[in-house]
Amino acid sequence: MSARFDIPALLAELTVAEKAALVSGSGFWWTRKIERLGIPSVMVSDGPHGLRKQNTDGDHVGLGSSVPATCFPTASALGSSWDIDLARQVGVAIGEEARGQDLAVVLGPGINIKRSPLCGRNFEYLSEDPLISGEMGAAMVHGIQSQGVGTSLKHYAVNNQENDRLRVSAEVDDRTLREIYLAGFERVVRSAQPWTVMCSYNRINGVYASQDPWLLTDVLRGEWGFDGLVVSDWGAVDDPAAAVAAGLDLEMPSTGGASAAKVLAAVEAGTITEAVLDIAVGRLLQLLERSLPGVEATDTFDAEAHHRLARTVAQDCAVLLKNEGGLLPLVPSEGSVAVIGEFARSPRFQGAGSSKVNPTKVDDALTALREELAVDFAAGFGIDDPKADTAALLAEAVELARGARTVVLFLGLPASYESEGYDRDHMDLPADQVAVLEAVAAVNDRVVVVLANGSVVSAAGWADHAGAILEGWLGGQAGGGAIADLLLGAANPSGRLAETMPLRLADNPVFLNFPGEDRRVRYGEGIYVGYRYYDAVDRDVSYPFGHGLSYTTFAYSDLTVTNLVSEPGDPATRWLGAPRVAVSITVTNTGSVAGKEVPQVYVGAAGASVARPVRELKAFAKVSLAPGEAKTVSFTLCERDLSYWSTRANGWVLEGGLFEVAVGASSRDLRLATSVTVEAPSLALPLDHSSTLGEWLDHPVGYEVLTEALRHSPAGDLTPMLDDPEQRRMLGSFPVSRLVTMLGDAMTPGLVDQLLAQVDG
Ligand code: BGC
Repeated sequence: MSARFDIPALLAELTVAEKAALVSGSGFWWTRKIERLGIPSVMVSDGPHGLRKQNTDGDHVGLGSSVPATCFPTASALGSSWDIDLARQVGVAIGEEARGQDLAVVLGPGINIKRSPLCGRNFEYLSEDPLISGEMGAAMVHGIQSQGVGTSLKHYAVNNQENDRLRVSAEVDDRTLREIYLAGFERVVRSAQPWTVMCSYNRINGVYASQDPWLLTDVLRGEWGFDGLVVSDWGAVDDPAAAVAAGLDLEMPSTGGASAAKVLAAVEAGTITEAVLDIAVGRLLQLLERSLPGVEATDTFDAEAHHRLARTVAQDCAVLLKNEGGLLPLVPSEGSVAVIGEFARSPRFQGAGSSKVNPTKVDDALTALREELAVDFAAGFGIDDPKADTAALLAEAVELARGARTVVLFLGLPASYESEGYDRDHMDLPADQVAVLEAVAAVNDRVVVVLANGSVVSAAGWADHAGAILEGWLGGQAGGGAIADLLLGAANPSGRLAETMPLRLADNPVFLNFPGEDRRVRYGEGIYVGYRYYDAVDRDVSYPFGHGLSYTTFAYSDLTVTNLVSEPGDPATRWLGAPRVAVSITVTNTGSVAGKEVPQVYVGAAGASVARPVRELKAFAKVSLAPGEAKTVSFTLCERDLSYWSTRANGWVLEGGLFEVAVGASSRDLRLATSVTVEAPSLALPLDHSSTLGEWLDHPVGYEVLTEALRHSPAGDLTPMLDDPEQRRMLGSFPVSRLVTMLGDAMTPGLVDQLLAQVDG
């Protein structure tokens, strides 16, 4: 295929002023065009769970109305499906709609880690775990880009709160960055190559993401091989010239020429070179090349088919948290069903802010249920409605509940509780809703609660009043129909929590470090985010990471875990290093209805020389099983899956030793476990003047060199001092340079330099 743009020729013809103009946008959604050279402008739009393409250039903050599009379940729902292929299908549908609208890039997926349950934008993020975020995010990228439309992986990086999001500095250590906050981005970039990455608003350790050469160039491009364009989040750039120098290619939205003038002035002053500017412009031209296939915008898609897909997806996202006595699915022939709760009639199906889609249609659960059976309804409470007559609504609900065999009560978070732009200050349901539950449960002992919320809510105060709880999340425009399908057993719940539901907010590991103050937030919990923390301290939770029930049951058998000795795999997974461990398990549907199970592989390394989480999710699959059917599922764990990030080595380190491998239905429901010894070369972490005796003795060459020197010291053989384990341990924390000084005459001056030279030699 011949190239549309001769990029080197265009770079030679563009003036510096034109280049400076190209690296910021035109209006709210467009890139800039240069007509004299035939460089067109292209349009980008939000994302991520449906399109938000504004008809005109948009209002000044880009939040006005948009063309109708399919609103799929938001990311907290999609993440709970644990279904990679489903995420790809959603991506394909969104890509198709975007192509029809002649869009170049969909601004998503968003894969930031859910650090705190309070983050107002958690509904837009997939998980508290980087493997799920990375795998599901990569699948969405593959799906959207398969339609010839780009994606913008966002918000890179460490954007885990809305509070002060345009200024706050996330103070986070290297290991935590790599293992938790960058890991998902790395996975998506390396395995799916999004056309663009969107840098976040916030600062990381004091540096704006939009102006961080380490983040945008060294890591993203240098280490991970990203070959696309970096776009700023809307309004994220503080210093346009510094941003270009750091590796930002496109500032959005337009700043009315102000940024272009600054970039031009910086080139003229020699602060940045024209060559650096050329790199950014070249990447913009490459994006145009990728996104202009020459097909006409059709403005059509099969809205009904996409709506049906949205319903299937929502079915797979809902998580059955609890189902005592088989309360669900409903058996209408056994007695009447009362539906209570305004959410049944007025569904909350998406979040607020830049991801808000104008849906092609909206299903509500009440109508969908009434298509299958006769139900009476009472609103029970008003949503965000100060004028609601709370007492009258409650009384009506109780009356209805009293006469029904089973009550299905729809509870949830009002839209005002969670949005882009601000965080929650608690994780409770509104008190008037809990009061309705308590009153209804007092007169009816068969209460099913259906939840509508983007971020997790606390269930501790009220869960005992419900026999069954179905977490429906923000299920998109077809979520109401999907809930009806699940309640009636036309679909079997198969979602699993992609984030822990703690008992209390105060149990959360970031409780004391969120949202920070004075423009800084300390990531003091380090790598212990979500279940990594709850499991490390063995804290009770409402529902653990990975949890979710089904209308059928599954048995796990035949766990085999074996060492692999093989070369790195195909190019797509080569970055994970050589395959080291093969895991396989047989899962059997032991119930009487078809269902889907999600076997989860957790790995721990209790004997490691550094602190490691008790267990970390390293692989998962979603498996469909007919009644009685068994399937064997196989996983491969590669070097990276077993490694930790060593700040000392500034790299991933695979430490040989014993690894515990457990497979189960949640992080707290491990069905089978075993361990495997993985061989790896002894660690040769770099030694320097401050290295301790212990570090020297752990180093394969350092050990030889140092013990040799001690054996032949001027004062004779000093190695016996290492024979006593207690003494060795006590002395182990002393830098060798200090020991040498303390031993004075007994040691040769300049010894440490000599030893380091021998190690390096
Ligand atoms: C959001 C982005 C979004 C952009 C454009 C920003 O405020 O953080 O996620 O893509 O606006 O609407």
